[in-house]
Parts: sequence; C-alpha cells; structure tokens
Amino acid sequence: MSTTDQGRVAAVVIMAAGAGTRMKSATAKVLHPLAGRSMLSYAVDAASALEPEHLVVVIGHQREQVQAHLDEIAPQVITAVQEQPRGTGDAVRSGLAALGELTGEVVVTSGDVPLLTGETLWELVRAHRAEGNTATLLTTIVDDPTGYGRIVREAGEVARIVEQRDASDDERQITEINAGIYVFDAETLRAGIAALSTDNAQGELYLTDVIAFARSRAGRVGGTVLTDSLQAEGVNDRVQLATLSAELNRRILRRWMIEGVTVLDPATTWVHDSVDLAADVTLLPGTSLEGATSVATGAVIGPDTTLIDVEVGASAHVVRTHATLAVIGEGAEVGPFSYLRPGTQLGVKGKIGAFVETKNAEIGDGAKVPHLTYCGDATVGEGANIGAGTIFANYDGVHKSHTTVGKGSFVGSDSVLVAPVEIADGVYVAAGSTITSAVGPGELAVARGQQRNIRGWVARKRPGTRTAAAAEAALEQATGQERDQ
Ligand code: UD1
Ligand code: CA
Repeated sequence: MSTTDQGRVAAVVIMAAGAGTRMKSATAKVLHPLAGRSMLSYAVDAASALEPEHLVVVIGHQREQVQAHLDEIAPQVITAVQEQPRGTGDAVRSGLAALGELTGEVVVTSGDVPLLTGETLWELVRAHRAEGNTATLLTTIVDDPTGYGRIVREAGEVARIVEQRDASDDERQITEINAGIYVFDAETLRAGIAALSTDNAQGELYLTDVIAFARSRAGRVGGTVLTDSLQAEGVNDRVQLATLSAELNRRILRRWMIEGVTVLDPATTWVHDSVDLAADVTLLPGTSLEGATSVATGAVIGPDTTLIDVEVGASAHVVRTHATLAVIGEGAEVGPFSYLRPGTQLGVKGKIGAFVETKNAEIGDGAKVPHLTYCGDATVGEGANIGAGTIFANYDGVHKSHTTVGKGSFVGSDSVLVAPVEIADGVYVAAGSTITSAVGPGELAVARGQQRNIRGWVARKRPGTRTAAAAEAALEQATGQERDQ
C-alpha cells in the first residue's frame, strides 16, 4: 500500500453482533438511544464520513431488530451476519466475507462507541497513511482502565493488546487502553484473522490479537493516542450509557451555547441531536427538547418543559409545558402547566394558559385560551377569547367532531361547546352556557337556566344555622341603612 495514497478507504466494518449481556435488556445494545438516536446511528455516521467504498455492519445477536433499524436509518449499508458471537476477530471475518476480494485499507469500528466522530476516524486514517503502517489503532489514556484491552508498548512502539481478563497484575496497571477502532491493511487483516486462536480467558477470537500478528510479520503498527478520551469510551452497561449520554448532551449544549443560546443549567437541560435552535434562545432549567423541535430567536423555554417535534416562533415564551407535534407562533405565550397534543397550532401572539389541554386545535393570531380549558378538534379565530373552564366537547363516545369559534368571539367562562357546532365571528356566549347549535354573527347565545331568587328561603328552610344568622344580620343592617338615609 502506498503511503501517499489519499483515496477512499476500501471498507469500514462496524461490529455490532455482540450479545450486549451487561445491558440486561430486551433491546439490542446498539439500539439504545443517546440524545434521541441509537448508538449505532452515531457509528454509521462516523463511518460514513470516511466515504468508504463499502460500509458493512456485522449483526448477530437480536439481528432482526438491528436489521430493521438499519433499514430505517441507513438502507444503503450492507449487513453481514455473524452466526455465533465468537469474538471480535470472528465478527470482522464475517464482515469481510460479505465483501469478497478486497485490497487497500479496512477501518474497523464498534457499534458501541457513540462519541467517536468522523473527524477522529480521518485522523486515524491519515496517521496510518503517513506512518506507512499495516495496522494503526486508536488508543487513549483513562483514569480507570478496568474492562478495556491494555496497550502493551515495547520501546514506545505498540507491541500487543492484552484483554482485562488475560492481563497480568502489572499489565492491569496500564492506563493506555484500546478504543476498539483500527485501520488495517486488508491482506494483513485477513491473514491475521486466519491465524487467531481461542486460547484466552474468554475462549473467543480476539481481533486485538491481529496487532501482535502484524508486528510478528515485521509490519509497522501504530497507535494514535486520542486526547479526547471520552470519544473512545464504549457502552457496555447502563452506567456507561448514562455517563456518555450526559457527555453527549454536554457537547450538544456547548455547541449551541457557542452559537448564542443561553442555557441556564446545562446539567438539567437535555437537547436531542436533531433539534435546531436560533441565537438568543434561552433554555431554563429542566427543559428537554426532542425530535424535530426548532426554536426561533428570542424565545424562552422552561423551566420544566418538554417539547417533542414542536416548532416555536421567535420571542415566544413556553413555561412548564409538555407539547408534542405542535406549532407555537411568534410572540405567543404558553403555560404554565399547559399540555399541547399533536395538531395544536397557536397563532402569532396567541395564548394557551394554565391547565389548558389542546389537541388538533388551530388557535388563531392573538386568540387566547388562558385558563382551565380542554380545546380539542377546534378552530378558534383570530383574537377570540375562550373563558376559564370552557370545554370543547368533541367526543360523543363514538365520533370526534369539530368546533369552530369565529374571529373576535368571546366565550364566557364555564361553557361547554358540544361538537359539531359553529360559532360565527363576533359572537358572545354567556358564561355557563351549553352550546349545541350554531350561533350567528353578532349574536349573544345564552343557554342556561334562568336565575330565580327566592326571598326568605334561608330563614324558613335553614333556621338556626350559621347561614341563617348571617342572613338575619345582613338583612337587619340593610334595613338600618335604609332607615338612616
Ligand atoms: C473490545 C476490545 C478491547 C477494547 C474495547 C473497546 C476485543 C477482544 N476487545 O472489548 O480491547 O478495549 O472493545 O471498547 O476486541 N462484537 C461482535 N461479535 C462478537 C463480539 C463482539 O460483533 O462476537 C461486537 C460488539 O457488538 C461490540 C464490539 O464488537 O460492538 C465490541 O465487543 P465487546 O464485547 O463490547 O468488546 P469489549 O469487551 O468491550
Ligand atoms: Ca465494548
């Protein structure tokens, strides 16, 4: 292989067939999410950054799940099946078998090293080329190397890798670890795998033994030490999953802070990789932004708010809210304690206030639903006002129906709008009404019992009570005042 070759790498093999036993999960390890997407998707992204001629993912354990996931997120990748989890050496053998004859460079990575970037893979490939190596591996120094393969160097050169369970006490003191990310010359890799044995503590075919093999053939082996050691860390259990999730989140937040987003408390703010934020957005503590959420400039989100696939307009305020698949207009106000379900669209400067639940509801510009309301399957016109405690009764037990409230209309508190019903523009609905039929423009709809006041009822029917005493006192005072006038 030429050291000046700056072409594409021949292949990347991503190992993802292991049993992931330590996760103790019905979900394949590499499908567990960090910042909203699977561990495997990060590995595929990093590998794709190399633009390899072939990209193969080795699957085995829970392969149907992993295959289905890959079909969804990366249908272009090839998958190879490793029938039995006989070790990382066997995994790569299975991957190469799917590719046929191959010359050039083969990059090997793992599906369980989610923070690794494509840029780091490029650095490794560049070092491999510049040094004219037959094998180059990524290493890093960690405080606690427990569980990792240790890098044994001789006269400064990488000599071999020894796994935790095969290491001597002295070797276990080594803090330089194998990240499990390699570049190999294809021919050396094939020959090295063919020469592997299961003579080790786990009875597996260790890919790591190809390093000593490459050395034994007098090939150059290089070790590139990564200073950002978290990029090299793997997820084997849920403790590591939590650690790396938090780290990934910190990195995502850091990126946004540099782009001009204020994050008051990064420790309690979670932003998925897929979210888009503008400069001068403020995120208050306890905020979680997920999926295809986007927030425009000047908006303030939180505290204690979860937005999933929500579009927030500029300068909107969203306080203590849970929202899914909703659009919040520019300058709008939401919360505190609001629940926006799919299909909610709040217009410019609109308001959805405290203890309001909305679903499939288009609430126009400047319209307000400020307190204690259920607003489902509705269109609320521009500038309309929905009084406290109004219920849009959209469900008759069988069908869901639609309610329209026209522009500038005013619905009094504690009304029930029984769908399907149309309330025109410029209407008043008297408080406490149950509206079952259409109301025309400019009309007042009153739909409630007439009030009757029965004089002397308390004295007759509730004599001797506290209420009767209060009534008597009030009546005497009123008569006294009349006398004094
Ligand atoms: C491996 C390395 C270790 C390194 C560590 C870095 C070996 C023998 N050891 O150990 O030196 O420090 O990664 O994270 O390689 N896999 C298969 N098929 C198998 C076994 C594993 O596809 O038969 C896949 C797993 O799904 C995983 C990757 O290979 O994505 C690594 O396997 P894992 O069992 O996690 O290896 P480690 O013990 O972490
Ligand atoms: Ca691992």
